[in-house]
Amino acid sequence: MGTMSTATAARWVERWESQQQHYAVDREERFEVIADLVEHVTFGRPDPLVLDLGSGPGCLAARIAARLPAAEVLAVDTDPLLLKLGSTHYGPSIRCVEAMIGAPGWLDALALDRPVDAAVSTTALHYLGKDTLRAVYTELAGRLRPGGILVNGDHISPDSTRVSELAGDIGRRYAERNAELAAEDWESWWSGAAADPELGPLLAARGAGRRPPCEGNDLTLSGHVELLRAAGFEDVGAVWQVGHSHVLAAIR
Ligand SMILES: C[S@@+](CC[C@H](N)C(=O)[O-])C[C@H]1O[C@@H](n2cnc3c(N)ncnc32)[C@H](O)[C@@H]1O
Repeated sequence: MGTMSTATAARWVERWESQQQHYAVDREERFEVIADLVEHVTFGRPDPLVLDLGSGPGCLAARIAARLPAAEVLAVDTDPLLLKLGSTHYGPSIRCVEAMIGAPGWLDALALDRPVDAAVSTTALHYLGKDTLRAVYTELAGRLRPGGILVNGDHISPDSTRVSELAGDIGRRYAERNAELAAEDWESWWSGAAADPELGPLLAARGAGRRPPCEGNDLTLSGHVELLRAAGFEDVGAVWQVGHSHVLAAIR
Protein backbone atom coordinates (compact mmCIF):
# COMPACT_ATOMS: atom_id res chain seq x y z
CA MET A 1 0.00 0.00 0.00
CA GLY A 2 1.32 3.50 -0.93
CA THR A 3 2.40 6.43 1.19
CA MET A 4 0.22 8.39 3.60
CA SER A 5 1.08 11.54 5.52
CA THR A 6 0.97 11.54 9.33
CA ALA A 7 -1.47 14.48 9.25
CA THR A 8 -3.86 12.53 7.02
CA ALA A 9 -3.60 9.44 9.24
CA ALA A 10 -4.23 11.52 12.38
CA ARG A 11 -7.33 13.15 10.85
CA TRP A 12 -8.87 9.86 9.71
CA VAL A 13 -8.09 7.98 12.92
CA GLU A 14 -9.76 10.80 14.87
CA ARG A 15 -12.82 10.55 12.60
CA TRP A 16 -12.76 6.74 13.04
CA GLU A 17 -12.90 7.14 16.83
CA SER A 18 -15.87 9.46 16.43
CA GLN A 19 -17.90 7.18 14.14
CA GLN A 20 -17.20 4.12 16.30
CA GLN A 21 -18.95 5.84 19.23
CA HIS A 22 -22.20 5.03 17.39
CA TYR A 23 -21.59 1.30 17.64
CA ALA A 24 -19.93 0.85 21.04
CA VAL A 25 -21.91 2.33 23.92
CA ASP A 26 -19.50 4.06 26.34
CA ARG A 27 -16.61 3.03 24.06
CA GLU A 28 -13.90 4.92 25.92
CA GLU A 29 -14.74 3.31 29.24
CA ARG A 30 -14.98 -0.09 27.54
CA PHE A 31 -11.42 0.43 26.25
CA GLU A 32 -10.24 1.46 29.73
CA VAL A 33 -11.79 -1.67 31.24
CA ILE A 34 -10.13 -3.91 28.64
CA ALA A 35 -6.76 -2.21 29.29
CA ASP A 36 -7.33 -2.69 33.05
CA LEU A 37 -7.83 -6.43 32.49
CA VAL A 38 -4.70 -6.70 30.37
CA GLU A 39 -2.71 -4.78 32.95
CA HIS A 40 -4.04 -7.07 35.69
CA VAL A 41 -3.01 -10.33 34.00
CA THR A 42 0.35 -9.08 32.78
CA PHE A 43 1.45 -7.54 36.08
CA GLY A 44 5.09 -8.37 36.77
CA ARG A 45 5.66 -10.13 33.46
CA PRO A 46 8.71 -8.90 31.53
CA ASP A 47 7.54 -9.06 27.91
CA PRO A 48 3.77 -9.41 27.60
CA LEU A 49 2.33 -10.39 24.23
CA VAL A 50 -1.10 -8.94 23.42
CA LEU A 51 -3.32 -9.37 20.35
CA ASP A 52 -6.04 -6.89 19.33
CA LEU A 53 -8.31 -8.83 16.98
CA GLY A 54 -10.30 -6.89 14.36
CA SER A 55 -8.31 -3.86 15.41
CA GLY A 56 -9.32 -1.47 12.64
CA PRO A 57 -6.67 1.27 12.81
CA GLY A 58 -5.57 -0.03 16.22
CA CYS A 59 -7.17 2.44 18.63
CA LEU A 60 -7.46 -0.16 21.41
CA ALA A 61 -4.02 -1.67 20.66
CA ALA A 62 -2.48 1.81 20.96
CA ARG A 63 -4.16 2.50 24.30
CA ILE A 64 -2.88 -0.83 25.66
CA ALA A 65 0.63 -0.13 24.33
CA ALA A 66 0.57 3.28 26.04
CA ARG A 67 -0.37 1.62 29.35
CA LEU A 68 2.15 -1.22 29.02
CA PRO A 69 5.28 0.09 27.29
CA ALA A 70 7.05 -3.27 27.73
CA ALA A 71 4.31 -5.17 25.88
CA GLU A 72 4.39 -6.26 22.27
CA VAL A 73 0.93 -5.38 20.95
CA LEU A 74 -0.27 -6.71 17.60
CA ALA A 75 -3.14 -5.01 15.80
CA VAL A 76 -4.72 -7.69 13.60
CA ASP A 77 -7.18 -6.85 10.85
CA THR A 78 -7.91 -7.84 7.30
CA ASP A 79 -8.28 -4.30 5.99
CA PRO A 80 -4.97 -2.91 4.70
CA LEU A 81 -6.25 0.67 4.57
CA LEU A 82 -7.19 0.66 8.27
CA LEU A 83 -3.87 -0.99 9.17
CA LYS A 84 -2.00 1.62 7.13
CA LEU A 85 -3.80 4.38 9.03
CA GLY A 86 -2.83 2.70 12.30
CA SER A 87 0.84 2.08 11.47
CA THR A 88 1.23 5.65 10.17
CA HIS A 89 -0.54 7.25 13.11
CA TYR A 90 0.71 5.13 16.00
CA GLY A 91 4.13 4.19 14.59
CA PRO A 92 6.14 1.29 16.05
CA SER A 93 4.26 1.26 19.39
CA ILE A 94 1.96 -1.33 17.78
CA ARG A 95 2.68 -4.01 15.15
CA CYS A 96 -0.01 -4.00 12.46
CA VAL A 97 -0.59 -7.41 10.86
CA GLU A 98 -2.93 -8.25 8.01
CA ALA A 99 -4.85 -11.49 8.58
CA MET A 100 -8.36 -12.82 7.99
CA ILE A 101 -9.35 -14.03 11.47
CA GLY A 102 -10.91 -17.48 11.23
CA ALA A 103 -9.41 -18.34 7.84
CA PRO A 104 -7.22 -21.48 7.77
CA GLY A 105 -3.78 -20.71 9.23
CA TRP A 106 -4.65 -17.14 10.23
CA LEU A 107 -2.73 -17.41 13.51
CA ASP A 108 0.40 -18.56 11.69
CA ALA A 109 0.38 -15.25 9.78
CA LEU A 110 1.02 -13.49 13.11
CA ALA A 111 4.40 -15.26 13.53
CA LEU A 112 3.99 -15.50 17.32
CA ASP A 113 7.23 -16.49 19.07
CA ARG A 114 5.76 -17.16 22.53
CA PRO A 115 2.46 -17.86 24.29
CA VAL A 116 -0.02 -14.99 24.28
CA ASP A 117 -0.84 -13.16 27.53
CA ALA A 118 -4.05 -11.50 26.33
CA ALA A 119 -6.16 -11.68 23.17
CA VAL A 120 -8.58 -8.76 23.15
CA SER A 121 -11.18 -7.58 20.70
CA THR A 122 -13.70 -4.78 20.54
CA THR A 123 -16.69 -4.29 18.22
CA ALA A 124 -15.35 -6.92 15.84
CA LEU A 125 -16.11 -10.56 16.73
CA HIS A 126 -19.81 -10.09 15.89
CA TYR A 127 -18.65 -10.25 12.25
CA LEU A 128 -17.91 -13.97 12.66
CA GLY A 129 -20.48 -16.73 12.22
CA LYS A 130 -21.01 -19.02 15.19
CA ASP A 131 -18.93 -21.91 13.82
CA THR A 132 -16.06 -19.62 12.89
CA LEU A 133 -16.20 -17.96 16.29
CA ARG A 134 -16.14 -21.37 18.01
CA ALA A 135 -13.03 -22.30 16.01
CA VAL A 136 -11.38 -18.93 16.76
CA TYR A 137 -12.09 -19.20 20.50
CA THR A 138 -10.63 -22.74 20.45
CA GLU A 139 -7.50 -21.71 18.54
CA LEU A 140 -6.94 -18.81 20.92
CA ALA A 141 -7.30 -21.10 23.94
CA GLY A 142 -4.44 -23.12 22.43
CA ARG A 143 -2.18 -20.05 22.10
CA LEU A 144 -2.82 -18.32 25.44
CA ARG A 145 -0.52 -19.08 28.36
CA PRO A 146 -2.09 -20.56 31.49
CA GLY A 147 -3.63 -17.59 33.32
CA GLY A 148 -3.83 -15.58 30.11
CA ILE A 149 -7.14 -14.03 29.06
CA LEU A 150 -9.39 -13.66 26.09
CA VAL A 151 -11.43 -10.45 26.27
CA ASN A 152 -14.35 -9.74 23.98
CA GLY A 153 -15.87 -6.26 24.15
CA ASP A 154 -18.86 -6.08 21.85
CA HIS A 155 -22.59 -5.48 21.62
CA ILE A 156 -24.07 -8.67 23.04
CA SER A 157 -27.70 -9.18 24.05
CA PRO A 158 -28.69 -10.34 27.52
CA ASP A 159 -30.51 -13.71 27.35
CA SER A 160 -33.96 -12.52 28.32
CA THR A 161 -35.76 -10.71 25.49
CA ARG A 162 -37.38 -8.28 27.90
CA VAL A 163 -34.11 -7.53 29.68
CA SER A 164 -32.50 -7.12 26.28
CA GLU A 165 -35.15 -4.49 25.40
CA LEU A 166 -34.41 -2.64 28.62
CA ALA A 167 -30.66 -2.80 27.96
CA GLY A 168 -31.26 -1.52 24.42
CA ASP A 169 -33.15 1.45 25.83
CA ILE A 170 -30.31 2.19 28.27
CA GLY A 171 -27.94 2.21 25.30
CA ARG A 172 -30.17 4.58 23.30
CA ARG A 173 -30.48 6.96 26.24
CA TYR A 174 -26.71 6.91 26.74
CA ALA A 175 -26.26 7.74 23.04
CA GLU A 176 -28.73 10.64 23.27
CA ARG A 177 -26.95 12.10 26.29
CA ASN A 178 -23.58 11.79 24.56
CA ALA A 179 -24.59 12.66 20.99
CA GLU A 180 -21.68 15.10 20.62
CA LEU A 181 -19.19 12.19 20.80
CA ALA A 182 -20.47 10.59 17.59
CA ALA A 183 -20.28 13.33 15.00
CA GLU A 184 -20.42 10.92 12.07
CA ASP A 185 -21.31 7.33 11.25
CA TRP A 186 -19.82 4.34 9.42
CA GLU A 187 -21.18 5.31 5.99
CA SER A 188 -20.04 8.93 6.17
CA TRP A 189 -16.55 7.82 7.27
CA TRP A 190 -16.12 5.44 4.31
CA SER A 191 -17.63 7.82 1.74
CA GLY A 192 -15.46 10.64 3.12
CA ALA A 193 -12.37 8.42 2.89
CA ALA A 194 -13.21 7.51 -0.71
CA ALA A 195 -13.47 11.22 -1.57
CA ASP A 196 -10.17 12.15 0.11
CA PRO A 197 -7.49 12.58 -2.58
CA GLU A 198 -4.90 10.81 -0.41
CA LEU A 199 -7.05 7.92 0.85
CA GLY A 200 -9.36 7.39 -2.12
CA PRO A 201 -6.77 5.72 -4.36
CA LEU A 202 -5.59 3.48 -1.48
CA LEU A 203 -9.17 2.48 -0.83
CA ALA A 204 -9.80 1.68 -4.49
CA ALA A 205 -6.54 -0.28 -4.74
CA ARG A 206 -7.33 -2.49 -1.76
CA GLY A 207 -10.23 -4.12 -3.63
CA ALA A 208 -13.42 -5.69 -2.32
CA GLY A 209 -11.68 -9.03 -1.57
CA ARG A 210 -9.75 -7.50 1.34
CA ARG A 211 -12.94 -6.50 3.21
CA PRO A 212 -14.08 -9.09 5.74
CA PRO A 213 -17.35 -10.94 5.22
CA CYS A 214 -19.90 -10.08 7.90
CA GLU A 215 -21.42 -13.52 8.42
CA GLY A 216 -22.66 -12.49 11.87
CA ASN A 217 -24.08 -14.47 14.76
CA ASP A 218 -27.00 -14.01 17.11
CA LEU A 219 -25.24 -15.28 20.23
CA THR A 220 -26.57 -13.92 23.48
CA LEU A 221 -24.44 -13.58 26.59
CA SER A 222 -24.90 -17.21 27.63
CA GLY A 223 -24.24 -18.32 24.03
CA HIS A 224 -20.79 -16.71 24.19
CA VAL A 225 -20.16 -18.19 27.64
CA GLU A 226 -21.06 -21.69 26.41
CA LEU A 227 -18.86 -21.35 23.34
CA LEU A 228 -15.92 -20.15 25.43
CA ARG A 229 -16.33 -23.00 27.92
CA ALA A 230 -16.49 -25.51 25.09
CA ALA A 231 -13.30 -23.95 23.70
CA GLY A 232 -11.44 -24.77 26.92
CA PHE A 233 -11.92 -21.68 29.09
CA GLU A 234 -13.17 -22.67 32.55
CA ASP A 235 -13.63 -19.23 34.07
CA VAL A 236 -15.83 -17.06 31.90
CA GLY A 237 -18.13 -14.12 32.57
CA ALA A 238 -19.09 -10.51 31.97
CA VAL A 239 -16.98 -8.00 33.90
CA TRP A 240 -18.62 -4.80 32.59
CA GLN A 241 -21.85 -3.77 30.86
CA VAL A 242 -23.68 -0.63 29.73
CA GLY A 243 -26.77 -1.37 27.66
CA HIS A 244 -25.77 -4.11 25.19
CA SER A 245 -22.14 -3.04 25.41
CA HIS A 246 -20.38 -5.88 27.24
CA VAL A 247 -16.88 -6.88 28.16
CA LEU A 248 -16.54 -10.66 28.54
CA ALA A 249 -13.43 -12.16 30.10
CA ALA A 250 -12.35 -15.79 29.72
CA ILE A 251 -9.36 -17.02 31.70
CA ARG A 252 -7.13 -19.80 30.39
C1 LIG B 1 -16.39 -2.07 13.61
S1 LIG B 1 -14.71 -2.24 13.29
C2 LIG B 1 -13.97 -2.05 14.90
C3 LIG B 1 -12.51 -1.75 14.83
C4 LIG B 1 -11.79 -1.52 16.16
N1 LIG B 1 -11.77 -2.71 16.97
C5 LIG B 1 -12.40 -0.37 16.93
O1 LIG B 1 -13.11 -0.61 17.90
O2 LIG B 1 -12.15 0.78 16.54
C6 LIG B 1 -14.58 -3.98 12.99
C7 LIG B 1 -13.21 -4.37 12.45
O3 LIG B 1 -13.12 -5.78 12.41
C8 LIG B 1 -12.44 -6.15 11.24
N2 LIG B 1 -12.79 -7.54 10.94
C9 LIG B 1 -14.03 -8.07 10.86
N3 LIG B 1 -13.96 -9.39 10.56
C10 LIG B 1 -12.64 -9.68 10.46
C11 LIG B 1 -11.92 -10.87 10.17
N4 LIG B 1 -12.54 -12.04 9.92
N5 LIG B 1 -10.57 -10.81 10.14
C12 LIG B 1 -9.92 -9.64 10.39
N6 LIG B 1 -10.55 -8.49 10.66
C13 LIG B 1 -11.89 -8.49 10.71
C14 LIG B 1 -12.91 -5.14 10.20
O4 LIG B 1 -12.04 -5.04 9.11
C15 LIG B 1 -12.97 -3.88 11.04
O5 LIG B 1 -11.75 -3.19 10.99
